[in-house]
Amino acid sequence: MNSGIIIFPVNQVIESFKMIGGVKELLQQIKDKAVSNREELEAFRLEYLSKKGKVAALFEELKNVQKEDRRAFGAELNNLKNLAQSRFDEWAEALGKQGGPSAKAEPDFTLPVPPFSYGSLHPLTLTKKRITEIFSRMGFDVADGPEVETDWFNFGALNFADNHPAREMQDTFFIEKGKGRDDVLLRTHTSNVQIRLLNNKKPPVRSIMPGRVFRNEAISARAHCIFHQVEGLYVDRNVSFKDLKDTLYYFAKEMFGKESKIRLRPSFFPFTEPSAEIDVTCFICKGKGCNICKHSGWVEIAGSGMVDPNVLRNCGIDPDVFTGFAFGMGIERIAMLRYDIKDLRLFTENDVRFLRQFSGA
Ligand code: DAH
Repeated sequence: MNSGIIIFPVNQVIESFKMIGGVKELLQQIKDKAVSNREELEAFRLEYLSKKGKVAALFEELKNVQKEDRRAFGAELNNLKNLAQSRFDEWAEALGKQGGPSAKAEPDFTLPVPPFSYGSLHPLTLTKKRITEIFSRMGFDVADGPEVETDWFNFGALNFADNHPAREMQDTFFIEKGKGRDDVLLRTHTSNVQIRLLNNKKPPVRSIMPGRVFRNEAISARAHCIFHQVEGLYVDRNVSFKDLKDTLYYFAKEMFGKESKIRLRPSFFPFTEPSAEIDVTCFICKGKGCNICKHSGWVEIAGSGMVDPNVLRNCGIDPDVFTGFAFGMGIERIAMLRYDIKDLRLFTENDVRFLRQFSGA
């Protein structure tokens, strides 16, 4: 039975009174505050807005007041907090506009710039650029040709006899087979561009032809199924073997150092007669013998020779009037020698630790 007497929990009533007093007092304090510099602003923040400040302390007290009053006091406290925050924001903005050492709005232009990492050219690109630059000084322009090629341009016109084992020796990737000279394949060397050039342009022709080539080889430290070559071709009246030697000698000195020497070893290529492999003195050990040159003092850099008269004929050029020389070198090989790179796979793995080393090159 209800006796009609309501019993208030005395402690909670007292707490509610305390809360009323506390809110009033803080409200007045915050209204009365004035802040004229950053230090005072920070002191205000600590006193009223921080986790250990006076407003937070009153929030802490909420749990002690009468249940019925909590919602109303909560709202009061929120108002108090908002007032403190908006006063703080006003002062902060005003102080920021005034500038000064602790104003946060102005950037400090005297600070050192944070380190910025630039990209770098790929070592193969750097090497190709260097090769192109050296030959352009000797009057060679740059020509380009297709990577997907027919048998005729890659082999036939270059004087490879039908069924010549070189078609298999060069581990050709065939795309369409059984059409003879119209077989479609991925070019195995850049020599196809020689034919493309001579078909379209009458001598004098003096070009280098950098590009990508493809051979069905197992990938290892020394071989890859995709790599790069630079082809060279000079066809004109009276081009001689001496011109070939002088050109490659100049190239070797520019590429590997002034004291470099070259030597020519007799060789065979279907598209050149006579043919020669070009060696350069090992620029690592200066000819004394090291791992790079396999203790011979020489490293091989290119194949070369005088353009075979059959090749000129296949392109409608009279070999009794014109002669020419040609050469071909692997860009990876030159880059490996130049930068002392031991594993060909590094060129295609895209490891930034490797690539970053060429940022200053
Ligand atoms: N095409 C040859 C190869 O891939 C390289 C070559 C040798 C190119 C002699 C030439 C040359 O132009 O004259 O192995």
